[in-house]
Amino acid sequence: MIGNPVDYDKKFKDDFPIYPAKLDFELKKYLELIPGKEVLDLGIGQGRNSIPLSNLGFNVTGVDYSSKCLEICKNNCSNLNLIRSDIRTFEIEKNRYDLILSSYVLHFLHKEDSYKIMNSIKETINLNGLIYLQVFSIEDPKFKKNKSLLDFELLDNNVFHNIINDTYISFFTREEILDIFKDFETIYISDEYSLELIRPNPHYSGVIKYIGRK
Ligand SMILES: C[S@@+](CC[C@H](N)C(=O)[O-])C[C@H]1O[C@@H](n2cnc3c(N)ncnc32)[C@H](O)[C@@H]1O
Repeated sequence: MIGNPVDYDKKFKDDFPIYPAKLDFELKKYLELIPGKEVLDLGIGQGRNSIPLSNLGFNVTGVDYSSKCLEICKNNCSNLNLIRSDIRTFEIEKNRYDLILSSYVLHFLHKEDSYKIMNSIKETINLNGLIYLQVFSIEDPKFKKNKSLLDFELLDNNVFHNIINDTYISFFTREEILDIFKDFETIYISDEYSLELIRPNPHYSGVIKYIGRK
């Protein structure tokens, strides 16, 4: 495990971002392919996808490091099974989950750690299970911006080290994601650049979205 986890509770002490609960259209489109009801959300945040999934009858386990995010989840949906943990130390139960999602989370790690988690997802998920990922691409404006910031050092393989708080931020390519999941069936992949209307800080982002089936 390399460096510290990104601490949302400290980072956004005064202006916590708001992510309204709404199922991403890519996931909504392929719900019928999920072979059962057990869902794991690594970095559940405020339950953006997981609250709608729970309301649709899925049994959702959500893991997050932020107490504040978990509290928001609990207040908005009492059926979620919530666990406070660093996802790098969370052990995924084998042959339990039919859908494992990790949306806008795995780029907040050194790639060595994100690769380990992706491999663990691949090993543990049920046969025919779906994985849904969203990670920053090298088109994300932060990729260029971080190069000019003194707080960041650029390491190999598009990984930045924040030398002030010893955290990492990684940027991925479409080919890299397809290679990691080469033994999965690609159901959906996109490499997008768009304006995110996140309050209080709307911003552009470059994101790779991937849905694969074991
Ligand atoms: C941008 S939010 C995304 C939340 C949610 N997945 C979504 O799509 O709306 C990132 C979330 O990842 C969590 N997170 C980041 N690094 C983590 C880690 N190492 N362990 C657990 N949670 C982490 C943060 O606390 C935060 O809730």
